[in-house]
Amino acid sequence: MSTELNHIIVPAKDKWESARFLGRILGVEAGPEWAHFVPVRVGRVTIDFDNAKDFSHHHCAFLLGEAEFDAALDRIKKAGIRFFAEFDRTGPGEINRNYGGRGVYFEDPSGHLFELITRPYGEVPEQWIEGKAVRATGG
Ligand SMILES: [Fe+2]
Repeated sequence: MSTELNHIIVPAKDKWESARFLGRILGVEAGPEWAHFVPVRVGRVTIDFDNAKDFSHHHCAFLLGEAEFDAALDRIKKAGIRFFAEFDRTGPGEINRNYGGRGVYFEDPSGHLFELITRPYGEVPEQWIEGKAVRATGG
């Protein structure tokens, strides 16, 4: 028996809008509604969107294959969604090359910061500055 993350609840201004948004970008189905949640299944984990008010913004990162990253980034661009190379919204319209892979950040309709990566983070934090992956200095 192993231990793994199974589902996580993400608050949304409009659960269907957020679920469809994420599903469209990742190329997976949103729903059907389960209890009062709208689930989006990503691999073995379910993101359960739920309507809420006055919530703080979450951050979710998705690890994709190279072809899936290309397809997702293409959908982001075609939908006119603003994207960034870094979590602090630096590098608008750019992707990063941290950890020897590729990564991109974008906001969902509820303001959550989502991230797509092709390589897991390494032991040492990296940051994309002026077109290069450099060791993050913190802060
Ligand atoms: Fe992240």
